Amino acid sequence: MATGLVSPGALFSSARAWADMDAWHDQVAELRRKQGSVLVADEGYEPYLVLLRHADVFAVSRDNTHWLNTARSVLGPDAEWQQLLASGMPPPATLVHLDGDAHRDHRAVTSPWFKPASVGRRQPRIDELARQFVDRMRDLGGECDFARDIAQPYTLRVIMDIYGVPEEDEPLMLDLTQGIFGAGDPEYIGDAEDPLARVGSAVMTFVQYFNTMTADRRECPRDDLATVIANGEIDGCPMGDVERLWYYIIVATAGHDTTSFALAGGMDALLRDPSQIEALRADPDLVVNATDEIIRWTSPVRHFMRYAAADTEVAGHPVRKDGRVLLSYPSANRDEDVFSDSMRFDITRKDAERLLSFGVGAHFCLGSQFARREIRTFLSTLLPELDHIEPAGPPEWAESHFVSGVKHLPVRYRFR
Ligand code: HEM
Repeated sequence: MATGLVSPGALFSSARAWADMDAWHDQVAELRRKQGSVLVADEGYEPYLVLLRHADVFAVSRDNTHWLNTARSVLGPDAEWQQLLASGMPPPATLVHLDGDAHRDHRAVTSPWFKPASVGRRQPRIDELARQFVDRMRDLGGECDFARDIAQPYTLRVIMDIYGVPEEDEPLMLDLTQGIFGAGDPEYIGDAEDPLARVGSAVMTFVQYFNTMTADRRECPRDDLATVIANGEIDGCPMGDVERLWYYIIVATAGHDTTSFALAGGMDALLRDPSQIEALRADPDLVVNATDEIIRWTSPVRHFMRYAAADTEVAGHPVRKDGRVLLSYPSANRDEDVFSDSMRFDITRKDAERLLSFGVGAHFCLGSQFARREIRTFLSTLLPELDHIEPAGPPEWAESHFVSGVKHLPVRYRFR
């Protein structure tokens, strides 16, 4: 259901372009094969070079000496950036906006907590939550919106549980993550006419909420991530108030919509080819590879930007110091030079682990272990109990050029 051709720049900057992924991939595949990159000089945006090939996205991501993240690591109109600076709000300084030693030191505050062994200790709790949401699906009586009713609240519960945020505060957290990450999608914006104001108010609410949390975890430390952040130190000194706040924001926001879109999009892909659901049921061990394939296929983080630290060249284009490139993860993940039959969703593919959905290098996703566990635990709990599942209507895609995916997925099903 192609919606017609979109101008190359709009493919990456316009929220609406992401509402029809089949059309998006068709158009981008053509550009990737023919030219490998796209130089965009659209009105309202400082020029940027879009990297479409796996090799280029990989090389730039790995080289964090010559390619910097900076405070503008997400693409947005120049006027919006100027407005943010003029508003007096501090420019974003979460992990994905930091570089060099500051990034290394901040990442070290929580990185031990995200190591495989430490994440593994949380598996019993992830099992419990997956059980809870499979039961919820059963209670919904044979029809639901899998994205809204299951994927979204399940992934939110897991991340909030890790954090130590109580269940009753989840609606607030959902509102905040969508306020910050879903700023392009009309459904998430609600009545707000000004997406930037919505982001600003979400940040202010975060400040109040997490200041209270910090005070609590300093007084009564617990086995949760909030305790690690509240008591985090850089160079032997407690993190500053603003630094700590950015930390809370990145972990709370980065871990939710991303995983929810992967799970919902994975279900959509499985429903389009039910033989793969059968294959998963016949061989439960396939779930590990299937999860990587789901994350390759859905690629919910649509891009990050990198800025040249000095004059350089990439993908055959000269880039001046401070010039910028957009890393297109969804395109890199469909690169036919790396993935055989790359436009086919295939849970048995041998090359799924070369996915770039989590990035690579110094900024490699801290939560990748959690995301993988969440998805595979849910599928492993659900599929053996399902007798049948089919679409009950077309999927609907979120309109956001940063983090997006399937936001509504009507399904009809029968449990055994
Ligand atoms: C399928 C789900 C997810 C996807 C696709 C995803 C993707 C990404 C990507 C592309 C990056 C930037 C990598 C780079 O620049 O090289 C990133 C960074 C990050 N992610 Fe994830 N993520 C997911 C889930 C999670 C979860 C569950 C958490 C937390 C529990 C999380 C926490 C983070 C953090 C803290 C960073 C910043 C790391 C840094 O800059 O050093 N993510 N993620």
